Amino acid sequence: MALVSAKEMLTKAKEGKYAVGQFNINNLEWTKAILLTAEELRSPVILGVSEGAGKYMCGYKTVVGMVNGMLEELNITVPVALHLDHGSYEGAKACIEAGFSSVMFDGSHYPIEENVEKTKELVAICNEKGLSIEAEVGSIGGEEDGVIGAGECADPEECKAIADLGVTMLAAGIGNIHGKYPENWAGLSFETLDAVQQKTGSMPLVLHGGTGIPEDMIKKAISLGVAKINVNTECQLSFAAATREYIEAGKDKEGKGFDPRKLLAPGTEAIKATVKEKMELFGSVGKA
Ligand code: 13P
Repeated sequence: MALVSAKEMLTKAKEGKYAVGQFNINNLEWTKAILLTAEELRSPVILGVSEGAGKYMCGYKTVVGMVNGMLEELNITVPVALHLDHGSYEGAKACIEAGFSSVMFDGSHYPIEENVEKTKELVAICNEKGLSIEAEVGSIGGEEDGVIGAGECADPEECKAIADLGVTMLAAGIGNIHGKYPENWAGLSFETLDAVQQKTGSMPLVLHGGTGIPEDMIKKAISLGVAKINVNTECQLSFAAATREYIEAGKDKEGKGFDPRKLLAPGTEAIKATVKEKMELFGSVGKA
Protein backbone atom coordinates (compact mmCIF):
# COMPACT_ATOMS: atom_id res chain seq x y z
CA MET A 1 0.00 0.00 0.00
CA ALA A 2 1.28 3.50 -0.84
CA LEU A 3 1.85 6.10 1.88
CA VAL A 4 -1.35 7.66 3.18
CA SER A 5 -2.27 10.89 4.93
CA ALA A 6 -2.82 10.39 8.67
CA LYS A 7 -6.31 11.91 8.50
CA GLU A 8 -8.44 8.81 8.12
CA MET A 9 -6.52 6.67 10.61
CA LEU A 10 -6.70 9.42 13.24
CA THR A 11 -10.37 10.20 12.69
CA LYS A 12 -11.12 6.49 13.18
CA ALA A 13 -8.87 6.36 16.26
CA LYS A 14 -10.57 9.33 17.90
CA GLU A 15 -14.00 7.86 17.22
CA GLY A 16 -12.95 4.39 18.36
CA LYS A 17 -11.15 5.68 21.49
CA TYR A 18 -7.69 4.33 20.75
CA ALA A 19 -4.47 5.99 19.59
CA VAL A 20 -2.15 5.43 16.64
CA GLY A 21 1.54 5.35 17.55
CA GLN A 22 4.05 7.64 15.88
CA PHE A 23 7.42 5.94 16.09
CA ASN A 24 10.43 7.99 15.06
CA ILE A 25 12.89 6.47 12.61
CA ASN A 26 16.64 6.95 12.41
CA ASN A 27 17.83 4.36 9.93
CA LEU A 28 16.87 1.34 7.84
CA GLU A 29 16.74 -1.09 10.78
CA TRP A 30 14.31 1.04 12.80
CA THR A 31 12.05 1.60 9.80
CA LYS A 32 11.96 -2.09 8.94
CA ALA A 33 11.28 -3.08 12.56
CA ILE A 34 8.36 -0.65 12.88
CA LEU A 35 6.77 -1.53 9.53
CA LEU A 36 7.02 -5.30 10.11
CA THR A 37 5.49 -4.97 13.57
CA ALA A 38 2.61 -2.82 12.30
CA GLU A 39 1.92 -5.37 9.55
CA GLU A 40 2.09 -8.32 11.94
CA LEU A 41 -0.30 -6.65 14.39
CA ARG A 42 -2.58 -5.20 11.69
CA SER A 43 -2.10 -1.73 13.14
CA PRO A 44 -2.01 1.61 11.35
CA VAL A 45 1.26 3.43 12.03
CA ILE A 46 2.96 6.79 11.62
CA LEU A 47 6.70 6.97 10.93
CA GLY A 48 8.08 10.17 12.47
CA VAL A 49 11.17 11.89 11.07
CA SER A 50 12.77 14.79 12.93
CA GLU A 51 14.73 17.32 10.89
CA GLY A 52 17.94 16.00 12.51
CA ALA A 53 17.09 12.40 11.62
CA GLY A 54 16.23 13.51 8.10
CA LYS A 55 19.69 15.07 7.74
CA TYR A 56 21.33 11.96 9.21
CA MET A 57 19.54 9.74 6.68
CA CYS A 58 20.95 11.88 3.81
CA GLY A 59 17.89 14.08 3.32
CA TYR A 60 14.13 13.77 2.91
CA LYS A 61 14.26 12.31 -0.59
CA THR A 62 16.37 9.41 0.66
CA VAL A 63 13.85 8.80 3.46
CA VAL A 64 10.91 8.83 1.03
CA GLY A 65 12.74 6.46 -1.32
CA MET A 66 13.64 4.06 1.48
CA VAL A 67 10.14 3.99 2.99
CA ASN A 68 8.35 3.63 -0.36
CA GLY A 69 10.72 0.84 -1.32
CA MET A 70 10.03 -1.01 1.94
CA LEU A 71 6.25 -0.64 1.63
CA GLU A 72 6.48 -2.41 -1.70
CA GLU A 73 9.17 -5.00 -1.02
CA LEU A 74 7.93 -5.97 2.45
CA ASN A 75 4.35 -6.11 1.12
CA ILE A 76 3.04 -3.74 3.78
CA THR A 77 -0.76 -3.57 3.55
CA VAL A 78 -1.63 -1.56 6.70
CA PRO A 79 -1.99 2.25 6.49
CA VAL A 80 1.38 4.02 6.92
CA ALA A 81 1.91 7.78 7.08
CA LEU A 82 5.38 9.34 6.73
CA HIS A 83 5.35 12.39 8.95
CA LEU A 84 7.78 15.23 9.62
CA ASP A 85 8.16 15.63 13.39
CA HIS A 86 8.52 19.16 14.84
CA GLY A 87 9.12 20.70 11.45
CA SER A 88 10.18 24.26 10.81
CA TYR A 89 8.27 26.21 8.17
CA GLU A 90 11.04 25.54 5.60
CA GLY A 91 11.38 21.90 6.69
CA ALA A 92 7.65 21.32 6.22
CA LYS A 93 7.81 22.73 2.69
CA ALA A 94 10.84 20.57 1.87
CA CYS A 95 9.08 17.40 3.09
CA ILE A 96 5.93 18.20 1.12
CA GLU A 97 8.14 18.56 -1.97
CA ALA A 98 10.04 15.33 -1.23
CA GLY A 99 6.91 13.14 -0.98
CA PHE A 100 6.06 12.89 2.74
CA SER A 101 2.37 12.15 3.34
CA SER A 102 2.10 14.23 6.51
CA VAL A 103 3.93 17.10 8.23
CA MET A 104 4.04 18.75 11.60
CA PHE A 105 4.63 22.47 11.65
CA ASP A 106 5.85 23.40 15.10
CA GLY A 107 5.16 27.11 15.33
CA SER A 108 4.78 26.98 19.12
CA HIS A 109 7.83 29.20 19.64
CA TYR A 110 6.34 32.00 17.49
CA PRO A 111 3.90 34.56 18.86
CA ILE A 112 0.38 33.11 18.33
CA GLU A 113 -0.39 35.52 15.43
CA GLU A 114 2.67 34.33 13.51
CA ASN A 115 1.96 30.67 14.37
CA VAL A 116 -1.57 31.19 12.95
CA GLU A 117 -0.30 32.90 9.79
CA LYS A 118 2.32 30.27 8.94
CA THR A 119 0.05 27.34 9.88
CA LYS A 120 -2.70 28.76 7.65
CA GLU A 121 -0.38 28.88 4.67
CA LEU A 122 0.83 25.29 5.19
CA VAL A 123 -2.74 24.02 5.73
CA ALA A 124 -3.67 25.38 2.29
CA ILE A 125 -0.73 23.59 0.63
CA CYS A 126 -1.41 20.30 2.47
CA ASN A 127 -5.14 20.43 1.66
CA GLU A 128 -4.39 20.89 -1.99
CA LYS A 129 -2.04 17.90 -2.02
CA GLY A 130 -4.12 15.68 0.27
CA LEU A 131 -1.55 15.59 3.09
CA SER A 132 -2.25 15.72 6.80
CA ILE A 133 -0.82 18.47 8.97
CA GLU A 134 -0.17 18.68 12.71
CA ALA A 135 0.20 21.95 14.59
CA GLU A 136 1.44 22.62 18.11
CA VAL A 137 0.25 24.98 20.82
CA GLY A 138 2.05 25.29 24.17
CA SER A 139 5.52 23.83 24.25
CA ILE A 140 6.41 20.20 24.93
CA GLY A 141 9.09 20.07 27.62
CA GLY A 142 12.53 18.53 27.33
CA GLU A 143 14.93 18.45 24.41
CA GLU A 144 14.07 17.73 20.80
CA ASP A 145 16.90 18.05 18.30
CA GLY A 146 18.69 20.62 20.45
CA VAL A 147 15.59 22.72 21.19
CA ILE A 148 14.79 22.81 24.91
CA GLY A 149 11.15 23.47 25.77
CA ALA A 150 9.98 24.36 29.28
CA GLY A 151 6.72 22.42 28.84
CA GLU A 152 4.08 25.05 29.47
CA CYS A 153 0.43 23.97 29.17
CA ALA A 154 -1.48 25.07 26.10
CA ASP A 155 -4.12 27.79 26.25
CA PRO A 156 -7.41 26.12 25.15
CA GLU A 157 -8.53 29.31 23.33
CA GLU A 158 -5.29 29.33 21.31
CA CYS A 159 -5.84 25.64 20.55
CA LYS A 160 -9.26 26.48 19.17
CA ALA A 161 -7.80 29.28 17.02
CA ILE A 162 -5.27 26.87 15.48
CA ALA A 163 -7.73 23.96 15.17
CA ASP A 164 -10.16 26.25 13.30
CA LEU A 165 -7.51 26.76 10.60
CA GLY A 166 -8.25 23.23 9.39
CA VAL A 167 -5.24 21.31 10.71
CA THR A 168 -5.67 17.53 10.81
CA MET A 169 -4.39 17.01 14.34
CA LEU A 170 -3.27 19.19 17.20
CA ALA A 171 -0.42 18.73 19.69
CA ALA A 172 -1.30 20.57 22.88
CA GLY A 173 1.26 20.88 25.66
CA ILE A 174 -0.23 19.33 28.82
CA GLY A 175 2.89 18.98 30.97
CA ASN A 176 4.40 16.28 28.72
CA ILE A 177 8.15 16.13 28.17
CA HIS A 178 10.38 14.59 25.51
CA GLY A 179 12.87 12.07 26.85
CA LYS A 180 12.86 10.67 30.39
CA TYR A 181 10.50 12.19 32.95
CA PRO A 182 12.19 13.64 36.05
CA GLU A 183 11.50 12.12 39.49
CA ASN A 184 9.50 15.17 40.54
CA TRP A 185 7.35 15.34 37.37
CA ALA A 186 3.87 16.64 38.19
CA GLY A 187 2.15 14.32 35.65
CA LEU A 188 -0.11 15.22 32.74
CA SER A 189 -2.58 18.04 33.21
CA PHE A 190 -5.89 16.34 32.45
CA GLU A 191 -7.66 19.57 33.31
CA THR A 192 -5.91 21.24 30.36
CA LEU A 193 -6.53 18.26 28.08
CA ASP A 194 -10.23 18.22 28.96
CA ALA A 195 -10.53 21.97 28.32
CA VAL A 196 -8.67 21.64 24.99
CA GLN A 197 -10.92 18.81 23.86
CA GLN A 198 -14.04 20.76 24.78
CA LYS A 199 -12.86 23.68 22.64
CA THR A 200 -11.67 21.57 19.69
CA GLY A 201 -14.42 18.93 19.47
CA SER A 202 -13.65 16.06 17.11
CA MET A 203 -10.05 17.19 16.40
CA PRO A 204 -7.63 14.28 17.06
CA LEU A 205 -5.21 15.42 19.79
CA VAL A 206 -1.55 14.41 19.86
CA LEU A 207 0.47 13.42 22.91
CA HIS A 208 4.20 13.95 22.46
CA GLY A 209 6.78 12.54 24.86
CA GLY A 210 5.18 9.09 24.96
CA THR A 211 8.21 7.51 26.66
CA GLY A 212 7.79 6.85 30.38
CA ILE A 213 4.19 8.01 30.84
CA PRO A 214 2.44 5.57 33.23
CA GLU A 215 -0.14 3.30 31.58
CA ASP A 216 -3.10 4.70 33.48
CA MET A 217 -2.25 8.23 32.31
CA ILE A 218 -1.96 7.03 28.70
CA LYS A 219 -5.40 5.43 28.94
CA LYS A 220 -6.94 8.50 30.52
CA ALA A 221 -5.39 10.75 27.84
CA ILE A 222 -6.92 8.53 25.13
CA SER A 223 -10.32 8.74 26.85
CA LEU A 224 -10.00 12.55 26.68
CA GLY A 225 -9.39 12.76 22.94
CA VAL A 226 -5.72 11.82 22.35
CA ALA A 227 -5.60 9.83 19.09
CA LYS A 228 -1.87 9.92 18.29
CA ILE A 229 0.99 9.23 20.68
CA ASN A 230 4.63 9.89 19.79
CA VAL A 231 7.38 7.53 20.97
CA ASN A 232 11.06 7.98 20.30
CA THR A 233 13.28 7.71 23.38
CA GLU A 234 11.91 4.31 24.40
CA CYS A 235 12.99 2.81 21.06
CA GLN A 236 16.42 4.42 21.48
CA LEU A 237 16.79 2.96 24.96
CA SER A 238 15.73 -0.55 24.00
CA PHE A 239 17.94 -0.50 20.89
CA ALA A 240 20.96 0.67 22.91
CA ALA A 241 20.38 -1.84 25.73
CA ALA A 242 20.10 -4.84 23.38
CA THR A 243 23.19 -3.78 21.40
CA ARG A 244 25.17 -3.24 24.62
CA GLU A 245 24.16 -6.66 25.93
CA TYR A 246 25.29 -8.33 22.69
CA ILE A 247 28.70 -6.65 22.82
CA GLU A 248 29.20 -7.12 26.55
CA ALA A 249 28.46 -10.84 26.17
CA GLY A 250 31.32 -10.89 23.64
CA LYS A 251 29.03 -12.12 20.85
CA ASP A 252 30.64 -9.75 18.37
CA LYS A 253 33.82 -11.78 18.89
CA GLU A 254 32.18 -15.14 18.14
CA GLY A 255 31.93 -16.46 14.58
CA LYS A 256 30.91 -13.58 12.32
CA GLY A 257 29.26 -11.68 15.17
CA PHE A 258 30.95 -8.48 14.01
CA ASP A 259 28.93 -8.63 10.76
CA PRO A 260 26.83 -5.42 10.93
CA ARG A 261 23.68 -7.38 10.11
CA LYS A 262 24.30 -9.62 13.13
CA LEU A 263 25.48 -6.76 15.34
CA LEU A 264 22.32 -4.72 14.69
CA ALA A 265 19.89 -7.64 14.88
CA PRO A 266 19.31 -7.67 18.67
CA GLY A 267 18.60 -3.91 18.69
CA THR A 268 16.20 -4.31 15.77
CA GLU A 269 14.34 -7.10 17.60
CA ALA A 270 14.22 -4.92 20.73
CA ILE A 271 12.55 -2.11 18.76
CA LYS A 272 9.97 -4.58 17.47
CA ALA A 273 9.17 -5.57 21.05
CA THR A 274 8.87 -1.93 22.17
CA VAL A 275 6.60 -1.04 19.25
CA LYS A 276 4.41 -4.10 19.93
CA GLU A 277 4.06 -3.19 23.60
CA LYS A 278 3.03 0.36 22.71
CA MET A 279 0.55 -0.64 20.01
CA GLU A 280 -1.10 -3.00 22.50
CA LEU A 281 -1.25 -0.25 25.14
CA PHE A 282 -2.59 2.35 22.68
CA GLY A 283 -5.27 -0.08 21.45
CA SER A 284 -4.38 0.15 17.73
CA VAL A 285 -3.81 -3.60 17.21
CA GLY A 286 -6.22 -5.04 14.62
CA LYS A 287 -7.49 -1.59 13.62
CA ALA A 288 -5.89 -1.49 10.15
P1 13P B 1 9.87 10.64 23.51
O1 13P B 1 11.25 10.79 22.95
O2 13P B 1 9.78 11.15 24.89
O3 13P B 1 9.34 9.29 23.34
O4 13P B 1 8.95 11.64 22.64
C1 13P B 1 8.87 11.49 21.26
C2 13P B 1 8.19 12.63 20.63
O5 13P B 1 7.32 13.25 21.21
C3 13P B 1 8.58 12.97 19.26
O6 13P B 1 7.92 14.11 18.81
